[in-house]
Amino acid sequence: MSKNIIITGASSGIGRATADCFLAAGWTVGLIARRSAVLSQVFGDNPAAMPLECDVSDEGAVAAAFDAFVAKFGRLDVLFNNAGLFTPAASIDEVTLKNWKTSVDVNLTGSFLCARKAFGLMRAQDPQGGRIINNGSISAHTPRPGSVAYTATKHAITGLTKSIALDGRPYRINGGQIDIGNAGTEMVTELNARKLAADPNATPDPVMDVNHSARAVLQMAELPLDTNILFMTIMASEMAFVGRG
Ligand SMILES: NC(=O)c1ccc[n+]([C@@H]2O[C@H](COP(=O)([O-])OP(=O)(O)OC[C@H]3O[C@@H](n4cnc5c(N)ncnc54)[C@H](OP(=O)(O)O)[C@@H]3O)[C@@H](O)[C@H]2O)c1
Repeated sequence: MSKNIIITGASSGIGRATADCFLAAGWTVGLIARRSAVLSQVFGDNPAAMPLECDVSDEGAVAAAFDAFVAKFGRLDVLFNNAGLFTPAASIDEVTLKNWKTSVDVNLTGSFLCARKAFGLMRAQDPQGGRIINNGSISAHTPRPGSVAYTATKHAITGLTKSIALDGRPYRINGGQIDIGNAGTEMVTELNARKLAADPNATPDPVMDVNHSARAVLQMAELPLDTNILFMTIMASEMAFVGRG
């Protein structure tokens, strides 16, 4: 069985930890991010890793990156659609159109472009099929304060996941989603810093080791194609999410 995955947003945080985890498990990994120098520095010596400089919101760059990966390794079994960003916290009346569009371009359109390309490759390859795992968020269910653009894009990811799962059935293509709550990455460090800047007496959000989310993605990816984890929520046990706090 071949084990080929493309991971977007592989230059830091969850994507980077997931790439390390898959490489250690014997997978061949295509690594997408804009900071190609970081990808080359971290993964350049590993023959099973292929750095692919790409902005996920650029249609042509996405197609070229996926085609280069398949030209080198023959097929694509899994896409981990992970690249994403969090624009400055603000209530909706304070959100600039520019920041709204940046969120949509990267978090939603970027995920669509990568999923569309992966779906086409998986549908055409022999043996047919594959798996697309979208990185949603706790914010795909419940917002944190001042996060309208991020929350709207992450709710939309849930629709993307369900549509892939439904439309993929005839072609043995699975759609799944991992919803992560506060893995210790740069994004979460920055969110906690903002929270404390706004209120020095605030309690920082609990975080968990990012490697737990990486191993969860590996578990989703290594299932046979007749089995799918449609949604998985993995979170720091003490963070506010369930109920009223
Ligand atoms: N950390 C958490 O607890 C948490 C919780 C829920 C959801 N998430 C989701 O997990 C994903 C990763 O977050 P993280 O915490 O690991 O953040 P991070 O450390 O800031 O990593 C974000 C990654 O996305 C890449 N990226 C951003 N814009 C891109 C673009 N236009 N094209 C290609 N790559 C781009 C960045 O690479 P370059 O800058 O090199 O392009 C980087 O590798 C995001 O989708 C986020 O919403 C995280």
